[in-house]
Amino acid sequence: MPKKILIINGSPKKDGNTTVMVEWFKQGAASKGADVEIVRSAFLKYKTPGCISCRACQKSAKYECCIEDEAKPVLAKMAEVDVIVFATPLYFFGPSAQLKLIFDRMFSLYKWDNDAGTMETPLTGKTLVLLASAFEDIGLDVLEKPFALTAQYTMMKFESVLVANAGVSGEIAKKWPKTREKVIAIGSDIAQQ
Ligand SMILES: Cc1cc2nc3c(=O)[nH]c(=O)nc-3n(C[C@H](O)[C@H](O)[C@H](O)COP(=O)(O)O)c2cc1C
Repeated sequence: MPKKILIINGSPKKDGNTTVMVEWFKQGAASKGADVEIVRSAFLKYKTPGCISCRACQKSAKYECCIEDEAKPVLAKMAEVDVIVFATPLYFFGPSAQLKLIFDRMFSLYKWDNDAGTMETPLTGKTLVLLASAFEDIGLDVLEKPFALTAQYTMMKFESVLVANAGVSGEIAKKWPKTREKVIAIGSDIAQQ
C-alpha cells in the first residue's frame, strides 16, 4: 500500500524556503510511490482565529473539529494518513501563526477522559515530520520542541529537518544545496517505512 502523506505548509510565501523544502520532501516521497497532498494553511478560509476552545469536539462521538470551515476536512485527513508533515518558517522563535491556525485544532483529534486519566487518538503510531528554516542560527531548537513533544505525547514517530542560516525567502536552495539531497532522502525513506 502506498504511504499517505499530508503536508501542511505554514508559510505565507508561495515560493519561499518552506515551499522549497516541501517540494523536496514531496519529490522524495513521490519517487517511492507515496500519495502526497499539500495544504497551504495560510490560504484556507477560517471561520475562527484558530482553536477557540469550544470543546464541542470532546462531546462529539467522532474525532472531528466542530468548526465548519476549510480546516475541518484537513484535520479529518490527518486522522487518515500515515504521515503528517508540518513545514514552517521560524517566526520569532516559534512556528508561523498560519501553521498554528491548524496545529492547535488538532485538539479535536484527541479524546480525554479526565476521570479515568486516559487519552485516545487515531494519531498514535503515525509519523510526524517537521521541516523548518530560519534566517539566523538561533531558535530552531525552541521551534522544534512543541512538535517533538506532541509526537512523544501522541506516541508518533518523529523526524525533523531544521535549516539555520537559510537566508531570505527562496534562498535556501542556493545557500544549502546539500540540504536538497537530505530532504529528498528523508521523504523517500519515510515513504518506504
Ligand atoms: C515575521 C517573521 C519573523 C521571523 N523571525 C525570525 C526569527 O526569529 N529568527 C530567524 O532566524 N529568522 C526569522 N525570520 C526569517 C525566516 O524564518 C526565514 O527567512 C525563513 O527561511 C523564511 O521561510 P519562507 O521563505 O518560507 O517564509 C522571520 C521572518 C519573518 C517574516
